[in-house]
Amino acid sequence: MPVVGIERFLTDDDLAKTLRADVREGLLAEPKRLPPKWFYDTRGSELFEEITKLEEYYQTRAERAILVGRSAEIAAASRARTLVELGAGSAEKTRVLMDALRAAGTLDTYVPVDVSGEFLAGTAEAIATEYPGLRVHGAVADFERHLTLLPSGPGPALVALLGGTIGNLHPEERAEFLSGVRAGLRPGDGFLLGTDLVKDPARLVAAYDDAAGVTADFNRNVLRVIDHELGADFDPDAFTHVAVWDAEREWIEMRLRSVRDQRVRVEDLDLEVSFTAEEEMRTEISAKFRRSGLERELAAAGLSLVDWWTDPAGDFALSLSHPI
Ligand code: AVJ
Repeated sequence: MPVVGIERFLTDDDLAKTLRADVREGLLAEPKRLPPKWFYDTRGSELFEEITKLEEYYQTRAERAILVGRSAEIAAASRARTLVELGAGSAEKTRVLMDALRAAGTLDTYVPVDVSGEFLAGTAEAIATEYPGLRVHGAVADFERHLTLLPSGPGPALVALLGGTIGNLHPEERAEFLSGVRAGLRPGDGFLLGTDLVKDPARLVAAYDDAAGVTADFNRNVLRVIDHELGADFDPDAFTHVAVWDAEREWIEMRLRSVRDQRVRVEDLDLEVSFTAEEEMRTEISAKFRRSGLERELAAAGLSLVDWWTDPAGDFALSLSHPI
């Protein structure tokens, strides 16, 4: 039998409470906003999966290409015995890295971290079965809140956040997150980070506003989640998808635009809010990076960027940092 343990730092009850607080706060804010983490119920995760296969959405392919080409280098540079993966999901791309760490003979422990317990259990079991002898200690946790509590294993550890997920955090949240990562690293540990890079705005906008409308559907899914979880009566068809490039802050912003004046009731919060025609509610930012800026942000958190790998087109980067 494979060795799999799962620790829970987050219960379904915690999640429900956080959703309620986020929705109340976001719908009462001016302008209205909803945090992107609530996109991902089963349907939302499937829609995101579909996004990663779109012609316009280059990120997933670019990151996989870097991993395929550079995992041996990453393994050699990190010598990791423990791999901690934040937001592990299905750990699909991670296997490329794990294969390299196994080939280098260093990997002993895998710590997948995810907010979805259901998803995590499946991932942990699958990995444990595919990699006999590997210790798998999963953690149901929110990496923005439980970073210092996460289980670990023998050093050196490599903490990874792939997929460009860091781009969904606001700059202040990002700084806090990076400091938290730094605080959990010992000398010799590493931090592997996937970041989407600044590029032609037309390509960026297309990646978040695809011709088939999958991203639009993904965006509206947050309304279905709130309808389902909090007894709200959002009509997803009464909102259109908007994706804009903010050139100053260098991030893509996704919004939902109300097609008419309307009132929405959120039963479980005993809350009613109104939208005016064309009113826009922000649902996600996806920040894009440059090496120089990222290096500064990492340094401010006590991390020194030592390696930088991009795909041939220069669309996406993986960076490896060590504690200063
Ligand atoms: C890769 C999950 C961070 O910001 O690109 C995809 C999610 N949002 N299309 C990103 C997303 C719209 C996303 N993450």
